[in-house]
Amino acid sequence: MTVTIVGSQLGDEGKGGIVDLYGDDADVVARYQGGDNAGHTVVHEGEEYKLSLVPSGAIRGKVGVLGNGCVVNPRTLFDELDTLQERGLDPDVRVAERAHVILPYHRVLDGIEEEVKSESGDEVGTTGRGIGPTYEDKAGRRGVRVGDLLDPDVLRERLEYVVPQKRALAEDVYGLDVSDLEDPDAFDVDALYEEFREVGRRFEAEDMTVNAGAFLTGAMADGQNVMFEGAQGTIIDIDHGNYPYVTSSNPTAGGAAVGTGVSPGVVGGGEVIGIVKGYLTRVGSGPLPTELGGVVGDTPDYDEQGEGEDEDLAHYIREEGGEYGTVTGRPRRVGWLDMPMLRHATRVSGFTGLAINHLDVLAGLDEVKVGHTYTLDGEERESMPATTEQWARCEATLRTFDGWEEFDPAATAEAGYEALPENAKAYVEYVESELDTPAYAIGVGPGRGETIVRERPF
Ligand code: GDP
Ligand code: IMO
Ligand code: MG
Repeated sequence: MTVTIVGSQLGDEGKGGIVDLYGDDADVVARYQGGDNAGHTVVHEGEEYKLSLVPSGAIRGKVGVLGNGCVVNPRTLFDELDTLQERGLDPDVRVAERAHVILPYHRVLDGIEEEVKSESGDEVGTTGRGIGPTYEDKAGRRGVRVGDLLDPDVLRERLEYVVPQKRALAEDVYGLDVSDLEDPDAFDVDALYEEFREVGRRFEAEDMTVNAGAFLTGAMADGQNVMFEGAQGTIIDIDHGNYPYVTSSNPTAGGAAVGTGVSPGVVGGGEVIGIVKGYLTRVGSGPLPTELGGVVGDTPDYDEQGEGEDEDLAHYIREEGGEYGTVTGRPRRVGWLDMPMLRHATRVSGFTGLAINHLDVLAGLDEVKVGHTYTLDGEERESMPATTEQWARCEATLRTFDGWEEFDPAATAEAGYEALPENAKAYVEYVESELDTPAYAIGVGPGRGETIVRERPF
């Protein structure tokens, strides 16, 4: 059977920890979209692991697969694999031949595009990993795929076609002096060929490439359990998120089928778990109707709102929750839980269960608020509108819950749901009832023993 893990908000909901928790019962953990823009922190036996590309299950000795829907930066992949090996693990990661490769020029172009947009305050606030430009080339039928790295002639042919175009874009459109770059070989066919042919050889030597759909289907036919690990979250989905302040892939459940090569029936026949952070965080630009406080650090200011007390509260939650980006270190913007957002996410992905994380971070507050509905042009809305401009005009109607006292996370997780403070239970039950979906797990701390497990989906 399959379990699909989907971020229900704006990323960083604690997906990595839940994949780690339920991954025990999985044999294979496959990522279906995104690349090294993701940042998952997993704490295991007191050791903290930060992964951006290798599927979180690898820490637990599961076979990891990077599906065809992923974009793979081989430099990051091998760095992570080497680091895990140095720390005594033996990760087994397979990469789809159909996955696209992030090349050095993609990162350069990601940076320039953001710079140009920032002149008018329109930058997305990307992670700068070249994600968007790589997916652009995929859709534009000029990408380089993992399978191409295995065949010297094909690799050279692809690079000879695409690199001059990219160089012209950088030099003639953006006026960049490519010889002045940190990576001066980023637009050089011969240098790229040498580096990426070597990557192909390592893939081959370590027998790392697969036809993902066939590999996963074979595993399931052998009775193995497969987990699909989503990166990012619903509101930064390129189709269902707040375009253009999105990533360039589909973190929602439909992406799990398209991005791995199994049928939608396989994904839909299994469990789909929506990961919910008990409040909201966002890195990068875009509206946030329940945002607390204003803009922090170098976060671009799409929509400055909130001040004073709200600012203090945002600061408090940010510090308590350690809300700084895993990949970029940027301070995360903070807001209250947003129910119209979660109703939208639940519809798009068809959650069969939820994991509600970070309830420990809210402990000790006098009151906890949620955006229950929105008001847009005098009309009450239960779900998100489709355009970002409309969303930015939505005013959240807040509902206030009594806060709950601090509690011992490990002891509470051990004792089970009933041990959670009454007011925290009321909060959980409100979310379950509004989304008509049971909470399978409740996160009360970052550690593995700090999750209340009510249901094991496999
Ligand atoms: P992901 O991108 O969704 O995998 O999430 P990240 O790893 O980027 O961010 C979540 C952060 O919160 C990590 O540092 C986790 O260790 C931590 N975390 C996860 N669940 C909980 C929880 O229930 N409580 C607390 N305090 N931290 C949590
Ligand atoms: P995980 O898997 C939070 C955001 C970026 C930016 C937008 C586009 O850790 O939840 P990109 O580099 O993807 O082109 O940036 O998406 N973003 C994330 N925000 N968590 C993530 O991943 C993210 N990956 C991308 O901040 O706003
Ligand atoms: Mg993250």
